[in-house]
Amino acid sequence: MDITLCCSHTAIEPWLDGLRAALPQARISAWHSGAPQADYAVVWAPPQQFLDEQPGLKALFNIGAGVDALLKLRLPPQALVVRLDDAGMAVQMAEYVCQAVIRHFRAFDQCEADMRAGRWVARRPLERSAFAVGVMGLGVLGERVARSLAQFEFPVNGWSRSPKAIDGIRAFSGPEGLHDFLAASRVLVNLLPLTPETENILNRDTLARLQSGGYLVNVARGAHLVEDDLLALLESGHLSGATLDVFRTEPLPVGHPFWNHPRITLTPHTSARTLLGESIAQMAGKIVALKRGEAIAGVVDPARGY
Ligand code: NAP
Ligand code: GLV
Repeated sequence: MDITLCCSHTAIEPWLDGLRAALPQARISAWHSGAPQADYAVVWAPPQQFLDEQPGLKALFNIGAGVDALLKLRLPPQALVVRLDDAGMAVQMAEYVCQAVIRHFRAFDQCEADMRAGRWVARRPLERSAFAVGVMGLGVLGERVARSLAQFEFPVNGWSRSPKAIDGIRAFSGPEGLHDFLAASRVLVNLLPLTPETENILNRDTLARLQSGGYLVNVARGAHLVEDDLLALLESGHLSGATLDVFRTEPLPVGHPFWNHPRITLTPHTSARTLLGESIAQMAGKIVALKRGEAIAGVVDPARGY
């Protein structure tokens, strides 16, 4: 069995070493133009040339959860596209979103600013029951995030394509459920995949439907958000702030208005990192299962886009 690795912006040696240790029977190498046909590929943002030169791949393993960039390429039609399925990301995403929501709800950023300025100010606690959090996307990451927020006793709403029943979560679904979901939420957490249906979904119309004083946490993809619409709603006061981990252009360009916005908290696409050990164990297990002819989880439906 031959496995080829083609991962941009990634130190490849640890992946080669880890996969060789996990699959000692396989021949594993870094791809180069002209390399022989492999059976399986481990990829992150590969060039089109890689796919054109590897038309016989049985499966492509993406070293991330989101496959939006990969699905823009011309893929070998028979190749399965396999996303990372949690692999240690869900707990990180739950940590990140809970800290962002709690930091805002408890006004910890204002406390820090007050204390740095030598001001001892005790703020009035907000009403938790009036602080409903809406989670867009109730997949591998969104469901974990929604359940974690509910542990802190926030009212939690969830929105997905298909109807769901999750204990403690008020579930909405489909385009027909979107407006009611937004109207029931004060904080909006985006954990949708980026697809033609979800691109620009965080816009003036949807964000204005959040309850007054609304807050946005975008941890999915930058292209979900119409940036000028967020800035306008912050300016108007309808939204009180945002925590953003992902951006239309990454790294965030020098001079972008988000950099110094007083009500936007920024992080550099780091809310849920790919973890080497967990990811290699998951991919190696799936490659062995595929070799045995068994079904695996995390296979993407290219028509659906996730
Ligand atoms: P997932 O398991 O595929 O879940 C996607 C969820 O979105 C599902 O609940 C799905 O509904 C829902 N959905 C998709 N299209 C929809 C639509 N048109 N309308 C309503 N709901 C829709 O994905 P995941 O593993 O949770 O990851 C979500 C995204 O997080 C990834 O695609 C990636 O972009 C992002 N991500 C970001 C980071 C970071 O560090 N910032 C890290 C990892 C992932 P159904 O359940 O009905 O199918
Ligand atoms: C990171 O953004 C991922 O999709 O895993």
